Amino acid sequence: MGKNIVQKILGAHLLDGELVPGQEIAIRIDQTLTQDATGTMSYLQFEAMGVPRVKTEISVSYVDHNTLQSGFENADDHRFLQTVASKHGIHFSRPGNGICHQVHLERFGIPGKTMLGSDSHTPTGGGIGMIAIGAGGLDVAVAMGGGPFYLTCPKVVGITLTGQLSPMVSAKDVILEVLRRLSVKGGVGKIIEYKGPGVATLSVPERATITNMGAELGATTSIFPSDEVTKAFLKAQKREDVWVELQADDDATYEEELTIDLSALEPMVACPHSPDAVKTVKEVGPIKVDQVLIGSCTNSSYSDLMKVAGLLKGKTVHPTVSLGIAPGSRQVFEMLARNGALADLIASGARILESACGPCIGMGQSPNSGAVSVRTFNRNFEGRSGTADAKIYLSSPEVAAAAAITGLLTDPRELGNAIDVAMPEQFLIDDSMVLAPAAEGNDVDVLRGPNIKPLPINEALANTLQAPVLLKVGDNITTDHIMPAGSKILPLRSNIPAISQYVFSGVDASFADRAKEAGRGIIVGGQNYGQGSSREHAALAPMYLGVKAVITQSFARIHRANLINFGILPLTFANEAELAKVNQGDELEIVNLSEKLGQEETLEVRNLTTGDSFTVRPDLTARQVAIIKAGGLLNYTRLNA
Ligand code: F3S
Repeated sequence: MGKNIVQKILGAHLLDGELVPGQEIAIRIDQTLTQDATGTMSYLQFEAMGVPRVKTEISVSYVDHNTLQSGFENADDHRFLQTVASKHGIHFSRPGNGICHQVHLERFGIPGKTMLGSDSHTPTGGGIGMIAIGAGGLDVAVAMGGGPFYLTCPKVVGITLTGQLSPMVSAKDVILEVLRRLSVKGGVGKIIEYKGPGVATLSVPERATITNMGAELGATTSIFPSDEVTKAFLKAQKREDVWVELQADDDATYEEELTIDLSALEPMVACPHSPDAVKTVKEVGPIKVDQVLIGSCTNSSYSDLMKVAGLLKGKTVHPTVSLGIAPGSRQVFEMLARNGALADLIASGARILESACGPCIGMGQSPNSGAVSVRTFNRNFEGRSGTADAKIYLSSPEVAAAAAITGLLTDPRELGNAIDVAMPEQFLIDDSMVLAPAAEGNDVDVLRGPNIKPLPINEALANTLQAPVLLKVGDNITTDHIMPAGSKILPLRSNIPAISQYVFSGVDASFADRAKEAGRGIIVGGQNYGQGSSREHAALAPMYLGVKAVITQSFARIHRANLINFGILPLTFANEAELAKVNQGDELEIVNLSEKLGQEETLEVRNLTTGDSFTVRPDLTARQVAIIKAGGLLNYTRLNA
């Protein structure tokens, strides 16, 4: 029987299990990437494993998230990342070189390879034909040490693209259409594979915009074929030698199928506060816009910014709008500077930001109170911008540029001058901001500032879990809710005692103190708990505070994996309605826990406060049970080393 691309790559990397959806499989990882916000912890974990040099084909450490240096913490962390990378055989992309996913696509991505990244938008690499998966930093550390990556074998959804995008309709509108149809939960347990005649009409950066935001579907990853377009992109990056063709067999099958006619799409936006609240720009109408931000790993490629520069050329940013632009990489930035497009952007009144994540992770450019902000980013969760009551609309670069010019949400086709940007035959290649590791790691001293505190390690699972419900929350709790980011909190990412004080701080300011006082606790939630990023601090910091279990109606994939990695028991209600049987402050008890885990499908939870009881499902594989019993993946890896 014919194979799809996902089956071909996973099959070639399979170390354990069978490619049957729902079964646990282990795969070999060829490449890893980390960014600084998750990377410091990932490298502390890698060090704790005692492996001298990485065993992957290539591993890259990027600094793109926390580039503001308003105190010593970030600068110290950058120095730690640079030296720890050099010692252990990891390439280091210096701050200023660009956003991890954009730079990786340009300089390191290889069709047919597997990649694990400690960032949820790692699937961007699917644009060049990789199986690129976002995971917690500890999973990445294990992969760097040569260990397999375990995942539930996903279903493969085939999305057939037909037709061709109309002028001023862009790749962003394709993924917004997928989100509109499938929702933020629609990709859970699935890999999205794009196919059909429309694929050849999209450039690699356009494909990468689509796979990038597949993360918002909750998908394991998304992937495009590797074809002549991919080859041309790699050639223009002077990396043609790594190209291989990747196509699904003619008789390949898919667990689900969908068709999108590119010709029928029109400019769209994701409305506040969810990436799947998608409407056409026309449906939303000409609302007043206060801020426009263009950039992020979703939409900051050369062609994205050239289109924006073309639209802004000779125009002035509307007086009531603040326009910020962050090129995705130094390659893009320098090309714009050399060809004059940067001058057009500056002349329009745009505020040019560093090549980094910047406002996407809440590092600067918070909009005014109650603002409407149109962004080419991938997330619009409440509060992520740094302004609690801001309303964030996610759009294409064309829609964002039109809003910057008119001060209103505007269909860019009304501007009249469609901009067509051809893929350059040759990108500007300069890898001087990527530092190769030392040939001999023994000679490198790892520099640690005072902000780098020892890694907290969990204890082994007790046989009886008795703990209070520290917090009961609703549906769609994000990792931003659990462990907020922003310029005050991010610098503490390698200092767990300090950062843990902010756990759930936006939801319940007294949470951390209550948890510390109780010394142990349980969190109870609704559907899709932990959606959003791969931020393992959303598991690590609660673990430090004594959280032993999280009981929900359902979990987001990466966060559930992170909970297991840190020895926190993820449980789901066997009967979702029984969520009502638990209140904040109730004392819960599960007895004979370590005996029953892995033996019985359900566990009884006694509510000692009400005298009631309810049933939960652990749904853990034998390996996950062993990890939980050991108190987390680090303990498990050490025990099994
Ligand atoms: Fe950075 Fe935002 Fe992407 S934080 S990695 S630009 S989602």
